[in-house]
Amino acid sequence: MKRVAILISGGGSNMVALADSMTGDHPARPVLVLSNVAEAGGIAKAEARGIDADVVDHRPFGRDRAAFEAALNDRLAEALPDILCLAGFMRILTPAFTEAWAGRMLNIHPSLLPKYPGLHTHDRALAAGDAEAGCTVHEVTSDLDQGPILGQARVPVLPGDDADQLAARVLTAEHQLYPRVLRRFAEGNRSPLYLLEGGEAPNTSGRCD
Ligand code: GAR
Repeated sequence: MKRVAILISGGGSNMVALADSMTGDHPARPVLVLSNVAEAGGIAKAEARGIDADVVDHRPFGRDRAAFEAALNDRLAEALPDILCLAGFMRILTPAFTEAWAGRMLNIHPSLLPKYPGLHTHDRALAAGDAEAGCTVHEVTSDLDQGPILGQARVPVLPGDDADQLAARVLTAEHQLYPRVLRRFAEGNRSPLYLLEGGEAPNTSGRCD
């Protein structure tokens, strides 16, 4: 059984989707939810599920990212995870951290990477007039949002969408995609999974763009 730690900063809806998927014959179980924000709504959701939850606040460390990450690693060492899932974790990680977890750390990003790495993805998709948007699960490397793609889900951009409406549609797709990708990853399958809204893409092995 693989042990999964989930890192969050906010509401934790992706954490919930992941945690709730790890039951029955699933090859992984959640062992820790770790937040860098004490007020993160996801903490109570983890505790309500009986998952060990904790906070490592980044603020006392100021600009010393290495010290913050050492504190993260200390807490992770107690939980001994095999896999680390970033789920709305809004801190940039240093190469030392990403290299230490290379091949074992996933992230979900709210765009169809390589389009729109970084922040404000929905505003940027709308400003570009894109007809579709989506989300990507990828392995985390030292290049922000550039690691190998493990899965993508697409949704349409609808006439009159604002960023909040588009974000909500993408978030629903995130909740479909991330648990499926995690399961495959825990089984040792790193080939990318491509989902269309409402189903699987006909070509599940091709590139996305
Ligand atoms: C999700 O949309 C996730 O893709 C995004 O934050 C949201 C977290 O929601 N992550 C990033 O932007 C990472 N760069 P959640 O807390 O409800 O899962």
